Amino acid sequence: MKVTPWEVSGHIDYEKLIKEFGTSHITPQLLKRLEKLAGETHFMLDRRIFFSHRDLDWLLDKYERGEQFALYTGRGPSGDTHLGHLLPWVFSKWLQDRFDVEMYFQITDDEKFLAKDKLALDETNRLAYDNALDVIALGFDPSKTFIFVDTDYMKTMYRIAVQIAKHTTFSTAKAVFGFDNSTNIGISFYPAIQAATCFLPTFLKKMNVPVLIPAAIDQDPYWRITRDVAPKLGYYKPAAIHNTFLPGLQGPEGKMSSSKLESTIFTTDRPDDVKKKIQRAFSGGGATMKEHKEKGGNPDVDSACQYLYQMFEPDNNKIKEIFDGYRSGAISTGEVKDMLTKKVTAFLTEHQKKREQARKRLDKFILKD
Ligand code: TYM
Repeated sequence: MKVTPWEVSGHIDYEKLIKEFGTSHITPQLLKRLEKLAGETHFMLDRRIFFSHRDLDWLLDKYERGEQFALYTGRGPSGDTHLGHLLPWVFSKWLQDRFDVEMYFQITDDEKFLAKDKLALDETNRLAYDNALDVIALGFDPSKTFIFVDTDYMKTMYRIAVQIAKHTTFSTAKAVFGFDNSTNIGISFYPAIQAATCFLPTFLKKMNVPVLIPAAIDQDPYWRITRDVAPKLGYYKPAAIHNTFLPGLQGPEGKMSSSKLESTIFTTDRPDDVKKKIQRAFSGGGATMKEHKEKGGNPDVDSACQYLYQMFEPDNNKIKEIFDGYRSGAISTGEVKDMLTKKVTAFLTEHQKKREQARKRLDKFILKD
């Protein structure tokens, strides 16, 4: 298993990650508390798609005492947006609606330019604004959502980033991110920039603002260094809530990733592509129809079942029916793939319409220096 901000591979053991990263489980008590304050639960919480956190209880204490928090999440624009990226954003939108809070959304054209040999800065900057359309299409509140692209907002960000950089040694950065002598110095400074957004609401409002970061667990190393530095600068430590990875279509290991085209559904994919990709997806079913009927399949490794579970079938009764049916062999691989194809196609048709409409609304969301 490898889980870093730049690589996720192998069989991912989330229990082990909680131990290694030093994060906390989302306990039933914490879940109840969140549900009470939000006024409802979310299936991604019930199903522990969001499975781990840092200081969420502290953040809720503050909220109960009347201190409004801000949300922070982001995207590294290395290509088109895929369904895995949308997962934490869909949940963030729910949090924004339920708690009526601001969202700061960072798009790191600098990071992807520095980390990917083949990407030019003009290209990552273009992709940044294109990816922003996916964020807007999800329906975030324009009066409370601030999207920025690093190289176009660096005047503000740099002032925060240098403070963090001064308190982070190269030896810490090496230990946390695995940098070595071949790492370019842009990437070795970059963590200070992703960390800086944790303090942006505080910096802009000139008062300490608690921040909650919904993101997959691969981003957690950034929050570790930020949390070390925060007290030295007189800021609150950021709180985080971590999601598991939506797997690639080709199997349960690793994650859906822009670099594996056949394994990934992009938000710009057409219905034909979606159908083809899902038809070829990894199946947990029996080798033949006969065998499947007799012995049943394994929904825990079946890509279509997992996509329904993690994102596309919010109804707990329906998902139970599907999983039970698949395990017993009463529901075939073809049938779950068809169910998923219908759900994803319906979602993307609507999303693509909203994505086009978002072009005209981009200015309402973008923060500029
Ligand atoms: P990026 O572009 O790799 O990923 C964007 C967000 O999607 C999550 N993610 C996934 N979640 C579920 N299943 C997957 N298969 C999957 N793949 C990616 C990531 O954890 C992330 O939340 N460095 C960041 C950009 C960034 C950022 C942030 C992300 C800047 N500030 C604050 C989160 C929070 C990046 O390259 O993300």
